[in-house]
Amino acid sequence: EFTANEKSIVSGVWAKISVNEIGPQALARVLIVYPWTQRYFGSFGDLSNAAAILGNSKVGNHGKVVLNALDKGVKNMDNVKGTYAALSKLHCVQLNVDPDNFRLLADCLTIVVATKFGSDFTPAIQATWQKFLSAVVIALGSQYF
Ligand code: HEM
Repeated sequence: EFTANEKSIVSGVWAKISVNEIGPQALARVLIVYPWTQRYFGSFGDLSNAAAILGNSKVGNHGKVVLNALDKGVKNMDNVKGTYAALSKLHCVQLNVDPDNFRLLADCLTIVVATKFGSDFTPAIQATWQKFLSAVVIALGSQYF
């Protein structure tokens, strides 16, 4: 459940996020900081070091895909679980992604956003943003059993 104020805070953060810039950075950071996540991206080519990951166009493109999927959540904050039900099933059944990794990506995204926004990303805004991402993480894990 999100209040009207929380919805407007999340929409405000989202409006300032450039998907094409933040998406690649967030996914690259996950792959660098948590190298075991690389195992899911065997078709992406060279991920052997940070420079290779940051320069990898498949990582960049997929980072944009992931962040574009967040747009649906921002626009459906009253039904985050339903919004990500099919994507949860896909990551579980088809991709076999360990759902713990969703939290890691959410945290990396918050770090990238905080770095980019600086002091505009106040503790209150950050708390609401992370509450939203928590809902997305829970929703993405909801079809695992
Ligand atoms: C594919 C979203 C987290 C691994 C996808 C796709 C979307 C998506 C929209 C494309 C689905 C399609 O083709 O229909 C998300 C969101 C995440 C998330 C919103 C969290 C906020 C993760 C994490 C991992 C992961 C943490 C692994 C560590 C994959 C893989 C694919 C995929 C391997 C297929 C990539 C390919 O070969 O093209 N994800 N994802 N995802 N996701 Fe995620």
